[in-house]
Amino acid sequence: MGKDVIIACDFATAAETLAFLDRFTDRKPFVKIGMELFYAEGPAMVRELKKRGHRIFLDLKLHDIPNTVKKAMTVLSKLDVDIVNVHAAGTKAMMEAAVEGLTRPDGTRPLLIAVTQLTSTDQTAMERDLLIREPIADVVMHYARTAKAAGLDGVVCSPLEAEEVHEACGRAFLTVTPGIRFADGEAGDQKRIMTPAEAKRIGSDYIVVGRPITKAADPVAAYERCRNDFIG
Ligand code: C5P
Repeated sequence: MGKDVIIACDFATAAETLAFLDRFTDRKPFVKIGMELFYAEGPAMVRELKKRGHRIFLDLKLHDIPNTVKKAMTVLSKLDVDIVNVHAAGTKAMMEAAVEGLTRPDGTRPLLIAVTQLTSTDQTAMERDLLIREPIADVVMHYARTAKAAGLDGVVCSPLEAEEVHEACGRAFLTVTPGIRFADGEAGDQKRIMTPAEAKRIGSDYIVVGRPITKAADPVAAYERCRNDFIG
């Protein structure tokens, strides 16, 4: 497991998503489906992509009371996705309930990872809106350790945090890192970015790449470039 490029399929419809993925004839990329596409197209979208041979990271970031998350995870476990996630802010009890709900009767389950602090949250917003006064880097590491203690497999984090997460939680604890840009590409709204080659060097397990691939003139070439630089 690990060392792969996950394409963030941030499209609004199944038609757009399938038209985009139809361009990939030699390989079946690992894809991320987020809230927009899942809420628009539902589980049928996941089933269709699985049928076509894609691995799927279902990025729904669950955060609710433990019992509700447990039951929702039981439903998701039947979709046969490869990775799902929750917010670590939901507490250790919620994450433990998520593991329990996700585990199928035969003992297997998709990988479960936690969002630590969203990269859109900065120190100021965390202190002002959430009344969390510790340095954000410490909060991220604390959430990562709590996720590990709850039995999760890894975290979504900034590539800049991946090395420290591995030091705190061990090499086998997965780091899934968005915020990836080519050195000659546009950053867009991402502020703390790394190239695929840098993400490889600091030990990210999976990179999540959206616009540098989806908006490229030649998405297949951009994907192959990412793979070469990251897995290479
Ligand atoms: O287009 P871009 O490469 O910026 O897409 C990155 C993907 O990763 C998007 O789907 C975005 O929502 C997601 N993501 C992120 N930062 C996080 C968590 C998720 O960019 N902290």
